[in-house]
Amino acid sequence: MLRQVTTQSKKFSVTLKAAALSNPVPVDKGEKEFQIYRWNPDDGGQPRMETYKVDMNKCGPMVLDALIMIKNEIDPTLTFRRSCREGICGSCAMNIDGVNNLACLSYCTDVGKTTKIWPLPHMYVVKDLVPDMNNFYAQYKSIEPWLKKRDETPRTTENYQSEADRAKLDGLYECILCACCSTSCPSYWWNGDKYLGPAIIQQAYRWLIDSRDDYTAERLEKMNDAYSVFKCHTIMNCTKSCPKHLNPAWAIAEVKIIDIFPDAHIIFLDQKDVD
Ligand code: SF4
Ligand code: SF4
Ligand code: FES
Repeated sequence: MLRQVTTQSKKFSVTLKAAALSNPVPVDKGEKEFQIYRWNPDDGGQPRMETYKVDMNKCGPMVLDALIMIKNEIDPTLTFRRSCREGICGSCAMNIDGVNNLACLSYCTDVGKTTKIWPLPHMYVVKDLVPDMNNFYAQYKSIEPWLKKRDETPRTTENYQSEADRAKLDGLYECILCACCSTSCPSYWWNGDKYLGPAIIQQAYRWLIDSRDDYTAERLEKMNDAYSVFKCHTIMNCTKSCPKHLNPAWAIAEVKIIDIFPDAHIIFLDQKDVD
């Protein structure tokens, strides 16, 4: 009899717990303030910071969720780029509380604190949080980011690569070209027209070390001037700001070495040496 009662009371408590889990008491997440850079080239006004309050009970956890909610429910004129909302497309890069980051990978911090959002620094602004990426993409195009072969006769097999050669591209191919690194680089701020900047140099390095590419010397020669690569002063902001945890400062160091010592060909520094 006693056993039966105990079993029943256990059942009852399990039922209560299950009910509590399926019906949790809602926690009030409060209202969070966002101050967002606004500028519209068509209205002739000056740039300004505009304040919005978002009910975090109805909003997802990321800064991009808050921006989408502001646009959908408070101010449809707010303009920003986004696409994948999972750190893949690179389009939602912006400056959040002073740090370049992807809005879709940035959590809304402390509800009590105001979060300030600006476009990527030192870029021309198209509107609100949308930077003009034309120069960045032109620089990307200038490094010819595709496989170049001397023999262009159509192949009947794929361009094979050893596993070891393929592994050299790890830590490089993952770049999503968000420009968080380049726009955090003081050298790029002041010489962005001539200095390629960390994102593009890292991409150039990716093609320089691709065992299948036949144009290593020409690629190097094109960047061998006072500005393209050598305006990097190893300040390291780039590596700190990369939301994909890549190390463009290391890639730049590699390019400098093979530019200065072409006979040494590819010397692989340990990434940690430039970390
Ligand atoms: S290491 Fe070079 S590219 Fe990176 S932030 Fe510094 S100067 Fe810019
Ligand atoms: S290296 Fe990182 S920060 Fe720079 S463009 Fe690529 S993903 Fe963005
Ligand atoms: S929306 Fe694609 S990286 Fe943020």
